[in-house]
Amino acid sequence: MIVDIGGGTTDIAVLSLNDIVTSATTRVGGNAFDEQIIKYIRREHRLLIGQSTAEEVKIAIGSAHPESTEEKEYEVRGRDALTGLPKSVLVRSSDIRGAISEPLEVIGMTVRRVLDQTPPELICDIIDRGVVLTGGGALLTGIDAYLRDITGLSVHVAEDPISCVAKGTCVALENFDLYKEHMNRLSK
Ligand SMILES: Nc1ncnc2c1ncn2[C@@H]1O[C@H](COP(=O)(O)OP(=O)(O)OP(=O)(O)O)[C@@H](O)[C@H]1O
Ligand SMILES: [Mg+2]
Repeated sequence: MIVDIGGGTTDIAVLSLNDIVTSATTRVGGNAFDEQIIKYIRREHRLLIGQSTAEEVKIAIGSAHPESTEEKEYEVRGRDALTGLPKSVLVRSSDIRGAISEPLEVIGMTVRRVLDQTPPELICDIIDRGVVLTGGGALLTGIDAYLRDITGLSVHVAEDPISCVAKGTCVALENFDLYKEHMNRLSK
């Protein structure tokens, strides 16, 4: 089972014998975490920040799971929503964890839905081999532990999760005939 957490979407698939057995896509990924961070900081601190600041906060102190995370603090700079003046506030990892809980849940529930649709004999293989996370969202601290808790499976972050999708695409193109055959089979 691969869970690819990108910016705009999370793509989940169970692969077996060169085929996709079950899959799902949800339009929730890293950008949704950023949007929730923007909303949280506006709501709690009356501070307006942009998407790139929200992403910085997420990367610096973001966290999906309390146990696997060293609690950190981060000074967020933006514009006071009332006065329009520059202002900074201090936020903690636990605040960010709360802020992003909804999109995290959507990802967790979509993974569970795919597991529900997967034949039992393949579930046994997934229990043995675990789930692999790819995409930039896999770098969110504790997302492996979060998905482990939700699924009861072992969850591993792929080596170099940001570029492994591009590397895999490269391998597919190097074996284009095989890939084409496979795509034809999928579209039937
Ligand atoms: N260290 C990190 N911690 C948390 N999130 C991160 C980290 N590094 C990158 N991201 C997030 O990963 C996301 C981008 O991932 P990726 O490059 O896999 O997406 P993409 O393939 O461009 O998007 P999509 O698959 O939706 O088309 C962004 O939301 C980015 O903020
Ligand atoms: Mg992607």
